[in-house]
Amino acid sequence: MSRNTGGNQQVRGSAPGPLADYKGEAFRGGSLIIKINSLINNIYTPYLKHVKIHVMKIAVTGKGGVGKTTVSATLSYLYASEGHRVIAVDADPDANLAAAFGLSPETVSKIRPIAEMSDLIAERTGARPGSPGGVFRLNPQVDDIPEEFGLRFGNITLLITGRSKEASSGCYCPESVLLRRLLKHMVVERDEVVVLDMEAGIEHLTRGTSEGMDAFIVVVEPGQRSIQTAHTVRDLATQLGIREVLVVANKVRGEADIEYIKRSLKGLTLVGTLGFDDNVMEADIKAAPPYELSPTLVQGVRAIKDYLERHVRAKGNA
Ligand SMILES: Nc1ncnc2c1ncn2[C@@H]1O[C@H](COP(=O)(O)OP(=O)(O)O)[C@@H](O)[C@H]1O
Ligand SMILES: [Mg+2]
Repeated sequence: MSRNTGGNQQVRGSAPGPLADYKGEAFRGGSLIIKINSLINNIYTPYLKHVKIHVMKIAVTGKGGVGKTTVSATLSYLYASEGHRVIAVDADPDANLAAAFGLSPETVSKIRPIAEMSDLIAERTGARPGSPGGVFRLNPQVDDIPEEFGLRFGNITLLITGRSKEASSGCYCPESVLLRRLLKHMVVERDEVVVLDMEAGIEHLTRGTSEGMDAFIVVVEPGQRSIQTAHTVRDLATQLGIREVLVVANKVRGEADIEYIKRSLKGLTLVGTLGFDDNVMEADIKAAPPYELSPTLVQGVRAIKDYLERHVRAKGNA
């Protein structure tokens, strides 16, 4: 003990005499470092390979125009800026997630929705979309699709799935089989954060995919219509085995709006509110990412993200 204290003092003083002593300490310290290193290499690193670090899989749904894309883009941006790899999936037939990332129309026009890629669907499922009565593979290969057909910028890979008319009716056709399999792959089998920007019809999720989701969010705005949609989504979600539907109230203009939404929740869980902000509208007009023009939006979505993470940890998924 006293020796150690002396050693520390010598380091600080760096006097010539005691330096020899200090070197001795450093050497002993060095051997300790070697021991710790070998402990890390032999035990901790192999152990880490078996520990799957939990990454969030989030679905965002709701009525058209409520702010699903605004919320999805901002969540993706927040995870990406923390260093996570993110797959942002635009699964809304009214696809506009690319624009919310500020991608130019020329870039966007180069991304083809997966549901429209007949050759790919035929190659993977063994049947061409629209071919009547065909037999097709139910377990097509999809693991290369995010890299091959997604658009990568920074830590984000944007994938536009699109949705054919047939697929929206929940048919058992090649394109819907491929899309369902692809969603399941991204949610259940990969270790990127996944943010799904979806329309309110969620029939294309399978039970396996929905059970792999950490958070199932419905965005609402003050008004009966989007809240009615939230309840319809909850009914569909229940059938898919989703136990809890989380609500984000967007475009609120004050306490009265929040109170109004709270009164209409009927069993849905409110996880955050985002104020109406002219800067978000402005971003849409300027074709800029809303998270770059609205610090208020970023702050609100960050609070929601924090809530989701605490929530998942509390459920013991992390
Ligand atoms: N908090 C907000 N404040 C003001 N305008 C918003 C807000 N959130 C979204 N908007 C605007 O509402 C419109 C629809 O948003 P969007 O995210 O595209 O909705 P969705 O994807 O649900 O159709 C856009 O013009 C967007 O700029
Ligand atoms: Mg949208």
